[in-house]
Amino acid sequence: MLLIRNAYLIDPASGTEGIRDILIRDGYFAAVGTSLEAPAGTPCIDAGGLTAAPGLIDTHSHFRDPGFTYKEDIHTGALAAARGGYTSVILMANTSPAVDSPAVLADILARGRKEAVHIYSCANVTAGMRGLQLADLPALAAAGAAGFTDDGLPIMDAALLRTAFTAARGLGLPVSLHEEDKTMISQNGVNGGGTAAKALGLAGAPREAEISMIERDLAIAVETGAPVCIQHISTAEGVELVRQARRKNPDIHAEATPHHFSLTEDAVLRKGTLAKVNPPVRTENDRLAIIRGLQDGTIDLIATDHAPHAASEKEKPFVQAPSGMIGLETALGLALRELVRPGCLTMMQMLACLTVNPARFYHLPAGEVRVGAPADLVLFDPDAEWEVTAPFASKSDNSPFIGEKLPGVIRYTICRGEVAYKQ
Ligand code: DOR
Repeated sequence: MLLIRNAYLIDPASGTEGIRDILIRDGYFAAVGTSLEAPAGTPCIDAGGLTAAPGLIDTHSHFRDPGFTYKEDIHTGALAAARGGYTSVILMANTSPAVDSPAVLADILARGRKEAVHIYSCANVTAGMRGLQLADLPALAAAGAAGFTDDGLPIMDAALLRTAFTAARGLGLPVSLHEEDKTMISQNGVNGGGTAAKALGLAGAPREAEISMIERDLAIAVETGAPVCIQHISTAEGVELVRQARRKNPDIHAEATPHHFSLTEDAVLRKGTLAKVNPPVRTENDRLAIIRGLQDGTIDLIATDHAPHAASEKEKPFVQAPSGMIGLETALGLALRELVRPGCLTMMQMLACLTVNPARFYHLPAGEVRVGAPADLVLFDPDAEWEVTAPFASKSDNSPFIGEKLPGVIRYTICRGEVAYKQ
């Protein structure tokens, strides 16, 4: 048993906001109320001054395991998640081998079950992520796939994608899509035609590479009625396309990453390869359009795209260095700094994108503080500030935010009623 006293509870699933005690028994929420009693000797956390929310859920993390465990593995990824306030993480499937067989998926899920937070995984849409033929989606669903994705790569064959959408709809699982048409991209990770690309003498990744893929895929999503997620959206035009398409298929969803709502292309000039990411961070107009998308619900998921890379890889020249940045440990702080403090989103709206929205879309038993629900909770001080420094709990430290001050100190992450992280 565990009693949490005097927390300021924000639970977007129920709309609850106010000071509450929370009693946890046998891994589940047993009571939520005021002046709760517990038997003598029950461990108690005095949460006065802290905000309590459902444990955060990330729909987009790369734990690199199997295949690239020098960057991250399931254990260090889970530690990074817990330190960031996350109690559920959905892994991407661009591992080696790729997650295109029930055996690889079952191994990841079995090892994930040993961690202090919930580890889910997507499986691939196409065999070997080669984009040529579908993986065995029903078998992968039966083996526990949370959804399907070839993230890191677009699916260029529209007919194949259409078949995948229809199958995924039948299985009731989302397909999440990396929207960059490779044929338009000379060098990835920097905004094509923009100031940073020009300064680096690169053509970069033009916005049309994203816009054209989103347009095509949303048309197929509307036609098939499939549950589809547009990942890590980076362009104002992409946001508008999602806004329109959601009117025709409400099961279209979209992710905003903390870096796309926090950074613009000048970060590439200041931070070099640490700000190299696919799709790239773009202009202030794009950043503001993503925030407007979050405000009106067009974008309903905040997802990290936690993408660890070794220092030796990020030290390479810009064109050779891999794209991506870690994100689990800085996501809540960036959301508070960039979305809540400036008044763009209420705390309730912001937390909905990190809790109940991802839980509902991916059918996870998580994302709400309700009697009988699994006791996954984060307790944080929204006013206290901390400085982002290496080392991280993650095995990698490729963050462009090192040295910055962020609000929101996470004091406890509680998963299945147990303390998974304590500051
Ligand atoms: O920058 C990125 N890195 N974007 C992705 O979609 C994949 C990721 C990775 O796997 O490193």
